[in-house]
Amino acid sequence: METPQSLLVTGGAGFIGANLADRALSAGRRVTILDDLSRPGADENIRWLRERHGDSFDLIAESVTDARACERVVAGADAVYHLAAQVAVTTSVADPRHDFAVNALGTFNLLEAIRTSSHRPPLVFASTNKVYGELAHLQTVELETRHAFQNLPNGVSESEPLDFHSPYGCSKGAADQYVHDYARIYGLQTVVFRQSCIYGPRQMGVEEQGWVAWFAIAALTGQPITIYGDGKQVRDLLYIDDLLHAYELAIEKSDATSGKVYNMGGGAENALSIWWEFGPLLEDLLGRELPAPAFAPERPGDQPVFIADTAAFQRDTGWRATTPVEQGVANLLAWIDDNRALFS
Ligand SMILES: NC(=O)c1ccc[n+]([C@@H]2O[C@H](COP(=O)([O-])OP(=O)(O)OC[C@H]3O[C@@H](n4cnc5c(N)ncnc54)[C@H](O)[C@@H]3O)[C@@H](O)[C@H]2O)c1
Repeated sequence: METPQSLLVTGGAGFIGANLADRALSAGRRVTILDDLSRPGADENIRWLRERHGDSFDLIAESVTDARACERVVAGADAVYHLAAQVAVTTSVADPRHDFAVNALGTFNLLEAIRTSSHRPPLVFASTNKVYGELAHLQTVELETRHAFQNLPNGVSESEPLDFHSPYGCSKGAADQYVHDYARIYGLQTVVFRQSCIYGPRQMGVEEQGWVAWFAIAALTGQPITIYGDGKQVRDLLYIDDLLHAYELAIEKSDATSGKVYNMGGGAENALSIWWEFGPLLEDLLGRELPAPAFAPERPGDQPVFIADTAAFQRDTGWRATTPVEQGVANLLAWIDDNRALFS
C-alpha cells in the first residue's frame, strides 16, 4: 500500500513511540500521539519532539483504557501503531488489574475503534517474545559465558507454541491474539510483531524494564547493577532504527504482511548474554572496568535463551537488521552521555 501520511502512535511518548514519531515527522508525515504520559521520562520525550518538530504533531494525553478517546484518534489516522502498554513484568505482578486494563482492554478498545470506523486503517501491534513463556522444553547447554540452544541455530520461529507466563505475558498475549484474530474474523489489516529486546537512544531504562539501557545508564552514572539469575541468559538485541524500518515495511508491503504474526529481534548475530558478554562490551566501549554486579535469584519465567528467528519477515519484505550490536550500544552510550541530566 502507499505510504500512509497520517499516523496514530499510541504510546508515542515512550521509547519506541517517540523514535517512530520523530522519524515520521522528519519525513513530512502527520502524527497524532495518544499517550497518558504515565511512564517516567514520557514528558521529556514530548519536550524533545516539540523542540524538533514544534506544533506539527498532536498530543492527546489520554488513556487507551478510554474507548471514546480511541475512537476519536482513530478517526483521523491512515495507519495505527499501537505501542502504549504497561511494560514491566514486575509491575504486572504487583497490579494485575491495571496491567490487564491497559494491555488487554486498551488493545481491544483500539481494535473496536478501528473495526467500527468507516475507513479501517491498518494496525501494527508491538507484542513480545514473552508470549512464548519460559521455553523450558527447548534444550540448552551451558557454555562459559552463555546459555545456548542445542538445536535451534536460527532461534525461535513463530510456530513455537504460545505459553503465557505472568500477568504481563497474559495481557500482551491476549492482545496479540485479538489483533491477529481481528484480521481473520473481521478482515482488518493487522500485523503483530513479537519483539525481543529493543534498545537505543531515548530509552529511559530502569531495573524493571529496558535492561540494555538500564545497564548502560547505571554504568555511566555509577549506579549499582543487580543481575537476576546467573547472567548467562541470552537475548537478541535489535537497534531501534532497524525496528522502525520493519514497522514501515509492515505497512508498505501489506499485501505480504497483512494478517501475519512475526518474531522480531536482532537474531543470532546480535545475541549476547546479559552480563558475561554484555558487561565486557560495555567495558570495551567505555574503556574502563565496571564494578562487579550483585547477583540475585532469577526472576520466575525468565527464558534462559531467546533469539528471534526473523526469516519469515525477511522473506516477506526483504528486511534485515543492519546495525551491529557494538554500533548500536555505542550510539546508546553517546546519547546517555549527552543527556546525563535526565539520569541524575
Ligand atoms: N522495548 C522493548 O524492548 C520491547 C520489547 C517487547 C515489546 N515491547 C512493546 O513495545 C511497546 C513500546 O515499548 P517501549 O519500550 O517504547 O515502552 P515505553 O514504556 O517507553 O512506552 C510505552 C508508552 O505507553 C504509555 N502508556 C502507558 N500506559 C498507557 C495508557 N493506559 N494509555 C496511553 N498510553 C500509555 C507510556 O506513558 C509510555 O510513553 C510496548 O507495547 C511494549 O510492550 C517493547
